[in-house]
Amino acid sequence: MNKYLVIGNPIDHSLSPLLHNYWFKKYRFSDSIYEKKKVEKGDLKKIVEQIKKEEIKGVNVTVPFKREIFNYIDDAPQDVQLTKSVNTLVKENDKVVGYNTDQQGFEISLVKNDWFSKNKKVLIIGAGGVTPSILSSFIKINGAKKIYLTNRTREKAEELKKLWDTAPGILQIKEDTIEIIDWEKKCELCDLVINTTSVGLKKDEKINFDFSDYINKKEVLFYDLIYNPRETNFLKEAKIRGNKTMNGKMMFLWQAHLAFKMWTGVSPKINDEVIKLLD
Ligand SMILES: NC(=O)c1ccc[n+]([C@@H]2O[C@H](COP(=O)([O-])OP(=O)(O)OC[C@H]3O[C@@H](n4cnc5c(N)ncnc54)[C@H](OP(=O)(O)O)[C@@H]3O)[C@@H](O)[C@H]2O)c1
Repeated sequence: MNKYLVIGNPIDHSLSPLLHNYWFKKYRFSDSIYEKKKVEKGDLKKIVEQIKKEEIKGVNVTVPFKREIFNYIDDAPQDVQLTKSVNTLVKENDKVVGYNTDQQGFEISLVKNDWFSKNKKVLIIGAGGVTPSILSSFIKINGAKKIYLTNRTREKAEELKKLWDTAPGILQIKEDTIEIIDWEKKCELCDLVINTTSVGLKKDEKINFDFSDYINKKEVLFYDLIYNPRETNFLKEAKIRGNKTMNGKMMFLWQAHLAFKMWTGVSPKINDEVIKLLD
């Protein structure tokens, strides 16, 4: 049996097993199974060893270990070397390689929603494991005019900004493109406001930003990376204000699509049936 896992803590919210097992069945990988596993930081090394021994075939990494797992892998492509954010583990030539499919998943989700960042202003809330992927997609496609970044722990946002200050030649941006703002402080109105924190995974949680300036701003998109629950308070309140909203479902589907292809060589279809599966 080929065993695949998604690891994280918490992990109950993850719909990865539902999705990957659906694709295993659809594409007749009858010898493959995908499970979720709640792990602690101290378990990560062993998980990587198990991939090396082929006891586990592939792993997705979710909150809060996307950056921590980087310390245990053998190799990674250049973009992951920069962001140190990993969400997919694969064994290649006796090495465990850490990839990131979040960035591309996020980009595809925006493009398919007809949202392009060229000359736009973006507010990114959060500076956890997934945030470097979001940040680098705005930098890579070199569109965003301005990126405001804020995090409860300000130092983490500053560390993240430094990644691009110290990586000339890989992704070049103007010095003032990324600006850190204090937690819950206002900045100028943006075209996209994106929640990359884990606040909202539990039903009643919410972040306490004052978004009253966004009332009736119908063109502004509020995007929450969380897909389960389907509508966080962040999105509920945006809807009431009259803003556009989007949850993390399409990003989740596309990042999973890319991981599945990496593991099996099959490019699974994303159609209405699979979109409904996650509702
Ligand atoms: N749709 C998708 O495909 C997809 C892909 C990846 C991730 N996600 C979602 O994105 C979220 C973040 O994932 P991650 O891997 O970046 O997690 P992470 O590494 O654990 O980072 C958590 C982030 O949330 C902030 N945070 C946590 N509790 C908070 C609180 N009570 N108040 C304010 N800020 C708080 C943290 O701030 P501090 O630094 O101050 O602790 C940090 O910025 C998760 O909900 C995950 O499910 C979705």
